[in-house]
Order: sequence, then structure tokens, then C-alpha cells
Amino acid sequence: MTDTQRTAGSPPPGYPDHHDAVPLYGPRYQTRPVELYREMRLEHGPVVPVMLEGDIPAWLVIGYRQLHQVLSDPKLFSRDCRRWNVWDRVPPDWPLMAFIAYQPSVLFTDGAEHERHASAIRGALSEIDQFELRFQCERIADGLIDAFVGSGEADLMTQFAQPLPVLVAAWMFGLPEEEAPDLAHDVVEAMNGSVEAYGRFAATMMRLLQTKRENPGPDIPSRMLAHPSNLTDEELTHDLIITLTAGQDAMANWIGNTLRLMLTDDRFALTLAGGRRSVGQALNEVLWEDTPGQNSLGRWATRDTELGGRYIRAGDGLVLGLAGANSDPAIRPDPHAGPGGNHAHMAFAHGEHRCPHPAPELAEVMAQAAVEVLMDRLPDVILEGRPEDLVWRPSMQMRGLMALPVSFTPAHVAGR
Ligand code: HEM
Repeated sequence: MTDTQRTAGSPPPGYPDHHDAVPLYGPRYQTRPVELYREMRLEHGPVVPVMLEGDIPAWLVIGYRQLHQVLSDPKLFSRDCRRWNVWDRVPPDWPLMAFIAYQPSVLFTDGAEHERHASAIRGALSEIDQFELRFQCERIADGLIDAFVGSGEADLMTQFAQPLPVLVAAWMFGLPEEEAPDLAHDVVEAMNGSVEAYGRFAATMMRLLQTKRENPGPDIPSRMLAHPSNLTDEELTHDLIITLTAGQDAMANWIGNTLRLMLTDDRFALTLAGGRRSVGQALNEVLWEDTPGQNSLGRWATRDTELGGRYIRAGDGLVLGLAGANSDPAIRPDPHAGPGGNHAHMAFAHGEHRCPHPAPELAEVMAQAAVEVLMDRLPDVILEGRPEDLVWRPSMQMRGLMALPVSFTPAHVAGR
């Protein structure tokens, strides 16, 4: 039995291919996941039998073509998790429950019902002025940098990349500025698994909905309330929570992974102090090589079918191997050749449930502004310590750093 194979338990009934399933948890998703996906591909092909935490069977789709097929056919590969054929094996306190517990939201609906939710979200996001968004990101980035620029050192994850997206989201949601730090705190804690923080966050969204119903403004909740989809209050609350959180971790990782690349790779380090030409390239390279969300749960087969040579039964669960597909030699024959201007990565997924238009463009405005402001303000910033000592978060879903310690020449902020 090799390193990529399963070490404990026996395949559950009806999952004959899972006798040598690969655990979809453990330190290798944290250290060098792309090598792990390469080994999996050699050993198992594009559709890998995996065991989620707690020995729950699923399929990890790491072939680009196969992932495209899954995402393009929502009638065969549904987003409705209630179809899962192993719910009887899943304990109520399962660590991944938060990601797949059914709720009547944009995430778990299909077809016309999904479009009801998604059209309201797309409509609300489309009205965001991207110039104003850029301005707000710069203002928020400046404020975060002001707080540490005098000290000559910082952790760019906890002091910059993580708080920035949620503060920007608070602005997009029309939340009073003075409430934004509490919201930021609750969202970060909720994403780290705190049930109390999630409760406070959900209550904030419900309160916001009531306020915006009485006093609409130029913000996402007011636009979703006014949308002809006529979502119920329960649906709106779920969709607001998802729209606010869907990009948070991914945004923080996109900014953090891009800063790491620029601080550690000579191709970018040379231009760190002066040029801006390579920020766009660094952002795109990260979406391919250090995809902010490496795997995503999931899709459920609506009937028996075949995928990448595997027999998939009705109700089988599939994990979207976004990072695995991005490194598939079928589309990247030379793994050392950079992506250049190619944007056909799977970082935002594909199909009906892909990251909704124009969220990827808004995300790029935010990430680009964050990186550029940081470079302007800290022109001699360097990494503290060796690149190989940076620690990645223990997650098979996200690809982001625990911390990004840097140092720079301290600067005085006027008025402080
Ligand atoms: C680096 C930034 C981002 C990345 C990498 C990202 C990635 C993704 C991916 C991969 C999905 C699809 C998951 C699946 O198919 O199951 C998704 C869905 C979604 N994203 Fe993003 N996202 C980002 C930023 C954002 C932002 C800023 C927003 C909102 C302003 C947002 C809103 C959403 C929503 C609402 C969905 C659910 C769509 C649906 O199920 O129909 N995302 N995102």
C-alpha cells in the first residue's frame, strides 16, 4: 500500500473501488498538495476514490476534462446534498457538516430554483461601481497598514489579508462603519468553526435585512430585497450569509498567496519595489498554482453513470478537485511553464454554480488594490525567515498561509 492509499477501515458496502481509497485529510494537503495530486493521478486516474474525515467515501475529480464535465451537467451532477447515499454514516458533529448541511439557499438548489437565487445575487453585485470599490479597498488597505507601519514588522495574513475582504464586504453590504470590526471578528471566528460567532453573524444579517427594508440604500441587501425574484426572508438571510462568506477565505488566500509569491520568487521580487506590471501576472499565477480553494464540496450524482473510467452510483458524492484539475498534464503538458495570460483555470469553478458574475471581477479589483497599496506603502518589505518555514493552514479545502511575517523600515503616520 503506497502513501496515497488508505490505511484504515474497509470499503463501505456499495463502494468496491474504495478498498484502496486515498484519505482526503492529513498534512500532505497542507504541505505540497500538487505533488500529492500528481501521485493520485498516476495511481488512480482522473477520478480518485477518497475517504473524507470519519471514513466517509467520496470521489475526488482531479481531471480537468472530467471536472468540466461534472460542472457542465447539473442535471446529472446535482448540487443538492440531500441526495447523498451515505448520510446514515455521517455523524451530526461531523467536522465538514457546515459545508454541506442543506439549507434553502443559492448553494444547494438546482435549475430554475437556483436561478431565482443566483439572479438576485448577480443583479446586486452587478450594480457595484468598480471604481468606487477600488477606492474603498485602497482606503481600507491604507487604514490596516496605518495600524502596523510604525512598528517595522507585521503578519500580513492576520493584520492585512484576512481583515481586508470582510471590511470591504461590510461596505458592500451597507453596514455602518463602526459595526464593521465586530462583523469582521465574527466572520473570521465563524469560519474557524465558532457556533456562537456564526449565531451573532446570522443575527447581524437578519437585522441588516430589516433595516434595509425600511431604509434602502446603494448596497447588496437593498438590491436583493428589490429584486423581482421575491426571495423569502429566510432565503435572503441564507443568501446574504453565503454572498458575504463565499469569498472571504478565498480572498484572504488569494491576497496572501500572491504576496508570498512576490516576496519569495525572483521573477516577481525584482519588481516588488518599483513596478506594478507583474501584480496581474502574480495574481493569475496564484489562481493556477496555489488555487485559494483547492477542493470544494461538492456534487451528487442523480443516477448511475460513468466518469473517467469509474462507475458512479446515484447519490455518490463528488469533491471538485480545483487545484488537481489546474495541474492536469492534459492541459499543462509542461508543469514548469507558467500560465502566461491563460485564464482558463478552475479557481472560480465553472457552470451553473460557478462563482457568480461579476464576483470574480470584483475579487480581482480587491486583490489587485490590496497588493498594490501594500507595495506602495512598504517599498522595502521583506519576508521574515525562510520561505520553506512558512506554514500552510491544515485544510484540504483551502490553500492559504497560517502567517506571513514580514519586516520593513518603520514609517510615521501623520496624525498618530
Ligand atoms: C478569490 C476570490 C474567490 C474565489 C477563488 C471564489 C471561488 C468560488 C468557487 C470555486 C465557487 C463555486 C463552488 C462550487 O461550484 O461548488 C464560488 C461560488 C460562489 N462565490 Fe465565489 N470566489 C471568490 C470570491 C467571491 C466573492 C468576492 C463573492 C461575493 C462578492 C463570491 C460569491 C460567491 C457565491 C454567491 C457563490 C455561490 C454560487 C452558486 O452556488 O451558485 N465569491 N466561488
